[in-house]
Amino acid sequence: MALPVLRVGLIGNGTVGSAFATALDANQERLAQRLGARLRLTQVAVRHPDRHRGTLAGVRIHDDAESLANDASVDLVVEASGSPDAATWLRRAIARGAAAVSANKQAIAGDRVLLQALADRHPLLHCEAAVAAALPIVRALRDSLDGEEIHNVRGVLNGTTTYILTQIERGARFRDALLLAQEHGYAEADAEADLSGRDAAAKLAILATLAWRRPITVHDVDTKGINGNIVDVVRVAREHGSRVRLVAEAWADDTLHLRVEPKILHPHDVLARAENVVNVVEVHSALAGPLVWYGAGAGGARTASALLGDLLVASRALVGATAGSIAA
Ligand code: NAP
Ligand code: HSE
Repeated sequence: MALPVLRVGLIGNGTVGSAFATALDANQERLAQRLGARLRLTQVAVRHPDRHRGTLAGVRIHDDAESLANDASVDLVVEASGSPDAATWLRRAIARGAAAVSANKQAIAGDRVLLQALADRHPLLHCEAAVAAALPIVRALRDSLDGEEIHNVRGVLNGTTTYILTQIERGARFRDALLLAQEHGYAEADAEADLSGRDAAAKLAILATLAWRRPITVHDVDTKGINGNIVDVVRVAREHGSRVRLVAEAWADDTLHLRVEPKILHPHDVLARAENVVNVVEVHSALAGPLVWYGAGAGGARTASALLGDLLVASRALVGATAGSIAA
């Protein structure tokens, strides 16, 4: 019997979007088996549709992301554009009953409606890829720790600055290290978003929204970044066995505190394990105590992994999948 087909529309085909399209194609059979339905990429919206897109043979390519989001023939919208307009597209898609899967932390962390949907665990909005790439920290806070009281969330959440700081520890110059991070595809289209701390602040806002169940925006985070002046601090810290990292932290006492800033970390601090593009996230909760996640937090394939996982969860919500009955 032919499997039902779910149609996927992709917005963005850069580092993340192209890795996602490649992974979707390479894993077609595996995903169909797991889902009981086929996921077919039917259209892609980009800024420059005339550029060569080798991996998208047979897929309609255009430059109208809004029409893709509104298109009733698209069941799942995957958004990896980095565009500030993406919040509107994601909301439109969900409003008409499609699922929205996004890697765009700024779009989500700047939009109270989407943040409220996350706080409410809306089944059609998913953004694992927006925070720490494949590290399953969004799902952990959304589902696994859903019954818990979260005391605090701390993390090294930006791969670009961690990569730069690691290279400086090894003797590189700030500017050269930034160029390398950009070449690897870790940095945002405007790397100032990484350097200023805005990228980490948006990720923290999403995690805090899930942890404390109310919209917390990127603007609620007290944010400081790094620049070339950090080099001497990094080298002196290294001589003492310590490390400088851009640390994002949120903790609750009478009020909720949210902060991103460069910090000198004790060598035994678990966040000091963040090297190159590795992200580390630590969560303290009432019952589970301290929990730690560790792994690559940027890069095309790493982020595509999270998008695929979200795509399956969202697809199951759409098809109302139920597992077969269990014999008693
Ligand atoms: P990128 O390489 O700059 O690619 C952006 C893509 O979006 C390009 O294909 C671009 O089209 C398209 N685009 C931009 N504005 C558009 C618009 N208004 N309408 C339609 N398409 C548009 O960026 P990226 O590194 O893949 O990042 C994409 C998103 O994923 C960002 O939100 C980023 O924060 C997030 N993210 C990135 C990483 C990473 O490691 N890079 C990891 C996790 C999350 P053209 O190709 O025609 O220019
Ligand atoms: N620019 C981001 C970073 C990409 O360096 O962490 C991953 O979200």
